[in-house]
Amino acid sequence: MAVAAVSEEELREQRFFMQRVRAVTHTFDHKPLAFTHSYGCQQNVSDGEKLDGMLSEMGFELTDTPDNADLVLYNTCAVRENAENRVFGNVGALKHAKRRNPEMVIAVCGCMVQQEHIARRMKERFPYVDLIFGTHVLHRFPEMLYGIYEKGSRTVCIPECDGVLAEGLPVRRSDSVKASVPIMYGCNNFCTYCIVPKVRGRERSRGPAEVIAEVRGLIEKGYKEILLLGQNVNSYGKDKGMAFPQLLRELDGFDGEYVISFMTSHPKDCSRELIDVIAGSRHVSHHLHLPVQSGSDRILKLMNRHYDTAAYLDLVDYARSRIPDMQLTTDIIVGFPGETYEDFRMTLELIERVKYDSAFTFIYSRREGTKAAEMDDPVSDEEKGRWFRELLDVQGRIGENAYARYVGQTLRVLCEGRGRTDEKLLTGKSRQNIIVDFAGGDELLGKFADVKITKALPWALLGELINEKEK
Ligand code: SAH
Ligand code: SF4
Ligand code: F3S
Repeated sequence: MAVAAVSEEELREQRFFMQRVRAVTHTFDHKPLAFTHSYGCQQNVSDGEKLDGMLSEMGFELTDTPDNADLVLYNTCAVRENAENRVFGNVGALKHAKRRNPEMVIAVCGCMVQQEHIARRMKERFPYVDLIFGTHVLHRFPEMLYGIYEKGSRTVCIPECDGVLAEGLPVRRSDSVKASVPIMYGCNNFCTYCIVPKVRGRERSRGPAEVIAEVRGLIEKGYKEILLLGQNVNSYGKDKGMAFPQLLRELDGFDGEYVISFMTSHPKDCSRELIDVIAGSRHVSHHLHLPVQSGSDRILKLMNRHYDTAAYLDLVDYARSRIPDMQLTTDIIVGFPGETYEDFRMTLELIERVKYDSAFTFIYSRREGTKAAEMDDPVSDEEKGRWFRELLDVQGRIGENAYARYVGQTLRVLCEGRGRTDEKLLTGKSRQNIIVDFAGGDELLGKFADVKITKALPWALLGELINEKEK
């Protein structure tokens, strides 16, 4: 099956269903309330903003608890087993709320239920769930919701397909300074442990004209940080005639002060050209999240990652030479099937060599339907747990002092809010995407300021405001 663009006609139809649901919610004797939650990656959160946008158009206001909601929507993640268990727990907990309020509509969507066996289990275990829909029919949410209000019957809609591209859906953004912009969907890499290609379909990029227009519009509206999203953003545009480095160059060219960041980069597609574009840019973030997954070439091969540690280290060295103030972070999996302690030790060696600013570390989770799920996995959970703690210790020690190199530097910081631990401090993000806390007034919120760094913590920097000029 091919990737299909959702036509204008189909979107018109959905807008029509939004109006019809609005007519239904209008008859409620109270304000219609929806509770929504998106699990998982930024892409999923971005999908959640579209679901919220559609709900707003349908007359709902958002609430922060499921207890008194007319509609509860969970947008789920399948990447690891514990992500799925959390959803099962939370959907299970809705049983009493639904008993108290039988009119409550409960919907579960996203990556987890795109897997047939999970959708089946969800349907059997939770008969009070009204609507289950997969990742490829997000844009048809209004139609499905209207069907429930009209017929009152349960709906399960999980078509298998390579994926769709839908432009022009309403978006309800959760922030007025930072905005996420998905630029491509799906993944063709088939890392052997990963469920994402199965539940998100094949790679497809939005047209450059649409992306450029959206980003320009956001900057004109006053957004200061634009996060470009894709499971593998570096392979953006292969089907659209504009590669990712060119797109970044275009997006770097607007007037005003703003930061463009992006995730996630796959090392095999992260070219020197891309590094050069970042190095020469005015607005692109100096943060590279470059998941290495393992420091053993044997395991990287079994993972189907298409690079070895030598190529990876080459890339890291080049990036550091071109962008000396860059923040570098990574993802690591411990306990991939067949991994030995010797392989694991090579991962420790690699992180000692690279000295990441921080690392997201995961114990391998078996995902049904992936290649790795069929591989022999002789190492016990206890053993993997021990390796995992060893990794945390080593990275903890490296991360402890990683930010020390910024002390004494002046960083340009986008002020985002009040400090989480100290209300007197403002908290913001530097161009390296590092949290910076400093004393300052509310007038700086949503603006850039120059901050001289005085102290490094493992997860943040502290500093002093030296200039509050807004550009
Ligand atoms: N597309 C991105 C992110 C994918 S999911 C990328 O390729 O980098 C984010 C991280 O979750 C991955 O980088 C990987 O480290 C981890 N992950 C994915 N599948 C996993 C699994 N089955 N078990 C444990 N960790 C996994
Ligand atoms: Fe999963 Fe690999 Fe695709 Fe990332 S690149 S989403 S880890 S298959
Ligand atoms: Fe999870 Fe789906 Fe993202 S599986 S990590 S929500 S693409």
